[in-house]
Amino acid sequence: MKPLRIALTKGRLEKDTVNALEKIGLDCTQVREKGRRLILPIGNGEIEVVLAKAADVITYVENGVCDLGVVGKDTIMENGSHFYEILNLGFGKCRFALACKKGVDFFEGYSAKTIASKYPNVAKRFFESRAMDVRIIKIEGSVELAPLLDLSDGIVDIVETGTTLKENGLEVKEYISDISARLIANAASLKLRKKEIEELAAKLEAVISQN
Ligand code: PRP
Repeated sequence: MKPLRIALTKGRLEKDTVNALEKIGLDCTQVREKGRRLILPIGNGEIEVVLAKAADVITYVENGVCDLGVVGKDTIMENGSHFYEILNLGFGKCRFALACKKGVDFFEGYSAKTIASKYPNVAKRFFESRAMDVRIIKIEGSVELAPLLDLSDGIVDIVETGTTLKENGLEVKEYISDISARLIANAASLKLRKKEIEELAAKLEAVISQN
């Protein structure tokens, strides 16, 4: 049988994911010593890890070329969900927040505000829920720059420790939602490889609840 293929988000979530996979007894030596390789076998080769950017993890799972994926709830909220979210992995905890320059009352006045974000859909939904008319500008990274350069009145972004905001003279005005890493599954894989996927998810759930 083909190995079960799991797409992992490179970077921030990678270490915690590999730690969790090792805790359930899967040998992840090849991932730890990957060099520039992007597809690596783990365990006895019954599982194959694919290292991808967060949004691409979703694309690979939705299209069924990966059976499972590990991705942040932030990326799921931004990119929609034609897949099943089967487990909250608990790590990668942070929050979506609205932030702006320290001491500024973001909600003051009637003029339409401008918001910069890597997450335009999340930002749009948040302000729609407030019946607020805002202009949203998509920024690819270091969104904190936008209000500092007076491109925007505020940002919608993820906040983990709050250090980036603090060191740039910004502050949270409102928390929008909690975020953590999720295990997602392709709909067809969930039917065809139900037993393997359920076993893996159950083992992960058991080690996570120990933390
Ligand atoms: C994220 C986020 C903030 C920062 C928050 O950026 O966009 O900039 O982390 O973390 P903190 O609250 O612990 O300071 P990331 O490091 O992913 O880089 P990017 O902005 O270049 O995408």
